[in-house]
Amino acid sequence: MKREDIDKILAQIEELKCKTQKEVEEARVRFLGKKGEVTALFDEFRGIDKAQKAEFGKALNELKQKVQAKIEDLKAGAADEGAAGGPKLDLSMPGDPYELGSRHPVSIVRQEIVDIFRKFGYDVAEGPEIEDDYHVFEALNFPANHPARDMQDTFFVSAGHLNPLLLRTHTSSVQVRTMERMAPPIRVICPGRVFRNEAISARAHCIFHQVEGLYIDEGVTFADLKQAILLFAREMFGPDTQIRMRPSYFPFTEPSAEVDVSCNICHGKGCNICKGTGWLEILGCGMVDPNVLEASGIDSTKYSGFAFGMGLERIAMLKWRVNDLRHYFENDMRFLQEFASAPEI
Ligand code: PHE
Repeated sequence: MKREDIDKILAQIEELKCKTQKEVEEARVRFLGKKGEVTALFDEFRGIDKAQKAEFGKALNELKQKVQAKIEDLKAGAADEGAAGGPKLDLSMPGDPYELGSRHPVSIVRQEIVDIFRKFGYDVAEGPEIEDDYHVFEALNFPANHPARDMQDTFFVSAGHLNPLLLRTHTSSVQVRTMERMAPPIRVICPGRVFRNEAISARAHCIFHQVEGLYIDEGVTFADLKQAILLFAREMFGPDTQIRMRPSYFPFTEPSAEVDVSCNICHGKGCNICKGTGWLEILGCGMVDPNVLEASGIDSTKYSGFAFGMGLERIAMLKWRVNDLRHYFENDMRFLQEFASAPEI
């Protein structure tokens, strides 16, 4: 018996490649079968003298183990019969995990607002995102060339017509459509996506979301508006929330106001979120201008009403203290997954 006999088989085994199970079985027989090369060496081993046994016993056993391990490896890697050389199908392998989706923070806030106003008896109304000039501006007391149109920089779809198509700049257009369609009493909120030609930055975006509301009936007063907004603010930001109203201007409401809520972070003491004022601006509102009621066929001597509108991203920013608006539109999974545990609503 010679050392080279063992080394030769070791080298062959190292190089051995099998494509199919049949080839693996042939290799097994060639080395380990009754007349196999390794078996032959064991037969030879029995006849050698004692002094040599000590030298070759260990080497032979190691050789046998290596060959067996290699055959097992080849068996696992080779294709099953009929599978034409493809990789072996392992049905027990764990699958790729699906990334679970979660509700978008803007949807969470919208649903919360809708639920609050539903409790007050408001219905949800929707309308087209591509609107005409009439429903976005004209019927809302923005005559052509009125400077107030500059407050909402508009994307036009078709210019040059009397009533051009454009991307709505606010969902007040849905309120106009509701007034055209229904007789008072009217109580609706209009959630939806709006578009303004703004450069994208941490504080502005060309797309955002609003919820606007409208209430029209006989004898509706500014006190009703104040009460509705106060109740909403307390439901949304907590029972201790205070509101304050500052005079403002919108062409479609008179008088108009902007509403601040007491800062729910520092409770009015002043912090960097409320910039030391203790107040956070959340919405615009006012009593519907009689011109707007008349334009939609509602008798302004009989009926009055209030309207309000707020930006959802702004409310979400206050709620979760996310200070860059762009996060809401980039769909970065790391950001969205922060809201995966938000309550199912
Ligand atoms: N439409 C206004 C805006 O988009 C918000 C608003 C709605 C103000 C209703 C007053 C009344 O800015």
